[in-house]
Amino acid sequence: MQVKKAIIPAGGYGTRFLPATKAQPKEMLPVVDKPAIQYLIEEALASGIEDIIVVTYRGKNMIADHFDKAYELETELLKTGKLSKLEDVQKISEMTEICYVRQKQALGLGHAVYCARKFIGNEPFALMLPDDIVQATRPCISQLIDKFNRYQSPIIGVEIVPEDKVQLYGIVKGIEVEHRVLKIESLVEKPQPREAPSKLGIIGRYILHPCIFDVLKSTRPGLGGEVQLTDALLKLNEYQQLYAYIFEGTRYDVGDKLGYLKAVVELALQRDEFKEGLKKYLLEIGEKLKLDLT
Ligand code: G1P
Repeated sequence: MQVKKAIIPAGGYGTRFLPATKAQPKEMLPVVDKPAIQYLIEEALASGIEDIIVVTYRGKNMIADHFDKAYELETELLKTGKLSKLEDVQKISEMTEICYVRQKQALGLGHAVYCARKFIGNEPFALMLPDDIVQATRPCISQLIDKFNRYQSPIIGVEIVPEDKVQLYGIVKGIEVEHRVLKIESLVEKPQPREAPSKLGIIGRYILHPCIFDVLKSTRPGLGGEVQLTDALLKLNEYQQLYAYIFEGTRYDVGDKLGYLKAVVELALQRDEFKEGLKKYLLEIGEKLKLDLT
């Protein structure tokens, strides 16, 4: 069965990014000139995903507004002859139909995923976490769909993370079955460095079967008192072999302040309109920093 649906969980308080996220969803923070979540929607559509559900939370209506039609703004842009801006704005609402479901309590990622079960029905689906923006020649979720089609088993996107950062990620341990693909033996959510079974960190891209919902239903709160998806995946791995895939590309953690700054700089450097000016500026401040160090 083809992977045609995706879940994007956008629940939670965005505490890592306070105070910016006090009154606005972290998924709406602009990365250069697009909200973070738009990068994921574009990645999903470029990978053949047709139906997207965003799991939202109280105070996150701005997400639905962003992907909605903006009649007043469009009329104004047309009236003032700002036609290329008008085209940009129209493109966003025409990209795709997005469905929304509310997570009524912030009970963790596992619970947010569970909230979308009725939309998924009986099909395999992609799960994409908006804290992670991945730049790749081939979209990251499309790379995972390929491997899923080959193995017909749930597969999780991973990358090697620095040893002192393992406690920020779900960590998997596995046996390599082909270049970049591992059979998962164990998973643990945010272990302490000395307890981590490896340095392979889960990035926010997964292809899963709907049977994960049965497991999630009976998964008790774990780390931080939250229903952890990683705990449910560990349980699932007992009777269905899970795989990990070391994706090709660069991932930015835009839910983290420093990761966000890096993403803005690097993604802006890839844009023709900013490339030269930004490069010049970075070289100037690079020189200044060098002088400060000497
Ligand atoms: C979640 C997952 C974690 C994964 C991470 C990737 O954690 O629980 O396993 O490594 O996303 O971004 P969060 O960062 O939402 O706490």
